[in-house]
Amino acid sequence: MTTDRADHPPPDPRSKLSAPDVRARKGGLKLVMVTAYDYPTARRAAAAGIDLLLVGDSLGMAVLGYDSTVPVTMDDIIHHTRAVVRGAPGTHIVADLPFMSYQVNDAQAVENAGRLIKEGGADAVKLEGGRTMAGRVRAIVAAGIPVMGHVGLTPQSAGSLGGFRVQGRDLASARAILADAEAVAAAGAYALVVEAVPSELGELVTARVRIPTLGIGAGPGCDGQVLVVSDLLGLEDRIAPKFAKRYAELGEATRAAFAAFADDVRGGAFPDAAHSYAMKSEVAAALREAVEVTDETAAGAAGG
Ligand code: KIV
Repeated sequence: MTTDRADHPPPDPRSKLSAPDVRARKGGLKLVMVTAYDYPTARRAAAAGIDLLLVGDSLGMAVLGYDSTVPVTMDDIIHHTRAVVRGAPGTHIVADLPFMSYQVNDAQAVENAGRLIKEGGADAVKLEGGRTMAGRVRAIVAAGIPVMGHVGLTPQSAGSLGGFRVQGRDLASARAILADAEAVAAAGAYALVVEAVPSELGELVTARVRIPTLGIGAGPGCDGQVLVVSDLLGLEDRIAPKFAKRYAELGEATRAAFAAFADDVRGGAFPDAAHSYAMKSEVAAALREAVEVTDETAAGAAGG
């Protein structure tokens, strides 16, 4: 397999991938996914030829200011998915099932997955978990909805995993993650996020499952990569995972732009003529005269 750019030009941004198209990319041209939560970001990601957009529950931390993904609701995800769909109608869009929207039973999982498709406009849903969630994956797939799995570090259960930390470093936990990946793939998932595991394990999972793996902190051996948009653009300043490469510093650029605006307003440099509307001089003169007459009339009526 070659990764030469000349052999693999970016995909045509107008050709939306279906779930089977994504699945067919196993072992081929690497899949590229980023998270998106709003219209302008989705538009730019689509224009850049990003293959898949994920309306992740990282929304809670990246945009809504929570300390974890746990408080995110179905309505939050639906609201943001709609905006992303409007911004990137030609891109494959995956919406995350948030914490406790699928854990209760299969019926709850199918119903909420259906809402993300019907109300949000997503093409597929993602849920976290391995062997214990394989039944949920099977039930949602049976309802005709494509499911992306997510194993390794699963942020919704960070509490029981001991925090946001690398998973699968010892033999037992590495084998458990492998078994999780195989169970989710066997249950009918069309792709699999593998988060925060050693590169060797990311490569092994990729070799063992027939569906594409999308790594995030899982090394270069996966079938594709995903990054959280606020990490990629340098907007996140609270946490800095080792795997999160920053491709821009928009956080600092944004702060600097706000500071420059404040300086201009306070110093009188903004707005200048280039950013103001003008009136014909004769209209302005007539207006001033009319206002003066009105003021004199008003003063006379008031006995001034
Ligand atoms: O919610 C999210 O952004 C995710 C990514 C970390 C894959 O699940």
